[in-house]
Amino acid sequence: MQTIKLGRTGPAVGALGLGCMGMSPGVYGPADEAEGVATIHAAIDAGVTLIDTGDFYGMGHNEMLIARALEDVPRSGVVISVKFGALRDPAGAFGGNDGRPQAVKNFLAYTLRRLRTDYIDIYRPARVDPAVPIEDTIGAIADMVRTGYVRHIGLSEAGAQTIRRAHAVHPIADLQIEYSLMSRSIETTILPTTRQLGIAITAYGVLSRGLLSGRVPSPSTKGDIRVVRMPRFKEGNLEKNLRLVEALRQIGNEKGASPAQLAVAWVRSRGDDIVPVLGARRREQLKETLGALELKLDAADIARIDAAVSPKLTAGARYDAPQMAHLDSEAHV
Ligand SMILES: NC(=O)c1ccc[n+]([C@@H]2O[C@H](COP(=O)([O-])OP(=O)(O)OC[C@H]3O[C@@H](n4cnc5c(N)ncnc54)[C@H](OP(=O)(O)O)[C@@H]3O)[C@@H](O)[C@H]2O)c1
Repeated sequence: MQTIKLGRTGPAVGALGLGCMGMSPGVYGPADEAEGVATIHAAIDAGVTLIDTGDFYGMGHNEMLIARALEDVPRSGVVISVKFGALRDPAGAFGGNDGRPQAVKNFLAYTLRRLRTDYIDIYRPARVDPAVPIEDTIGAIADMVRTGYVRHIGLSEAGAQTIRRAHAVHPIADLQIEYSLMSRSIETTILPTTRQLGIAITAYGVLSRGLLSGRVPSPSTKGDIRVVRMPRFKEGNLEKNLRLVEALRQIGNEKGASPAQLAVAWVRSRGDDIVPVLGARRREQLKETLGALELKLDAADIARIDAAVSPKLTAGARYDAPQMAHLDSEAHV
């Protein structure tokens, strides 16, 4: 697989990354842990090196699953990206974010233990904590770079101003942010800013959480955040959005590609500084999305795809209102 260097100072990673969030139960409904581990192995075998998690995914479960999967994998063969800072209670409810320097070091200590490793390749606040200057949060991670517990610093869902302030404290390798045919708000000011500063984009939600594959969870699925609170999956919006996916499928049929493959190839076509982080949690999904690497889109294909699926045509925002309020990226586009 082609490799891409994350930012001016970051690590080189395979052109597609793997996000493990859905491998923990309670995110996208039930999860099959053995299949998650097998998917991580299959991804590494295919040349994927960037493995993304968050300490709050399954409240530590996701990191422990990754540790299990990486037992027999040389540590230098993978680039582990960890998000921290989201606060949860024992029932799983979210209670804001904590970016205080002492909290950063505390989160990291537990993450290192759960992942059974001596260092994290890229460490990033999951959300910008509005109560703590970003300089303080990044400064604390920079201390951890100096002591060797962290190799590189990333951001997640940060807006342009925050990116500049963070980068002034320590070079930022990548910004992890939602980017897809349906969610393109980064194009206005965030992407020009990261490009000016030499920061890569690691894009999540490339399939708009599965919607762009055309396969959606049943409304009765327990513990699936898409069913519970994602606007694009709500009755009324879902039907409209699935019609867009059908238009994408028509284009794919002519090119021998699935809608999911077109969605991944479209994000890749936006620039060599963008690495899609796939949410595949089963080997068959991984195989399908890896197929997008073979797909070349020319200007005419892109124009047809843009006419079929765009934010303007999409019904519903990418998060519900309470979650949107936590997005520095949307507050300061
Ligand atoms: N920084 C952030 O704020 C943030 C937020 C969210 C996620 N992330 C990271 O980004 C990763 C990907 O996020 P995402 O869940 O939004 O990704 P996504 O790729 O848009 O959606 C993944 C979901 O789509 C469904 N799907 C259907 N066909 C698929 C295929 N061929 N390949 C892959 N998935 C397919 C799967 O759900 P079913 O199995 O139910 O069909 C899968 O769980 C996460 O694992 C996490 O590491 C970061």
